[in-house]
Amino acid sequence: MYTEKVMDHFTNPRNVGEIENASGVGTVGNAKCGDIMRIYLDIDEAGIINDVKFKTFGCGAAVATSSMATELVKGKSVQDALQITNKAVMEALDGLPPVKVHCSLLAEEAIHAALWDYAEKKGINIVGLVKPKSDIHEDEEQIEY
Ligand code: FES
Repeated sequence: MYTEKVMDHFTNPRNVGEIENASGVGTVGNAKCGDIMRIYLDIDEAGIINDVKFKTFGCGAAVATSSMATELVKGKSVQDALQITNKAVMEALDGLPPVKVHCSLLAEEAIHAALWDYAEKKGINIVGLVKPKSDIHEDEEQIEY
């Protein structure tokens, strides 16, 4: 039921890890399945995402979509990264089963949450960026299973 690309990114995820002193960190969670995804962005002075890492505590589709999402935003400007939707991530993976679409939404939201954190830290406004509803602040990170 999973495409080859999904299986590849699940078994060999790209950009796993964390970035110390990241420009922006976003953590999001899905209340229904309890899965959590965290994205770290390293953004330079020109607003280019030089590095990105992720940690996902979740299902295989969540791991594959986070891996693909990090590949898609790497090297992009903040504005271009904002355009990467869960649809784009799914397309890049050659599709996901319908019951797994919400997992790709987590990847989009994690990027937005990390960009939101970056904007807050820098005191800037990123046009078109909305704070994701599933944003979990680190000090509120109490997920019940
Ligand atoms: Fe929750 Fe996939 S089942 S993110």
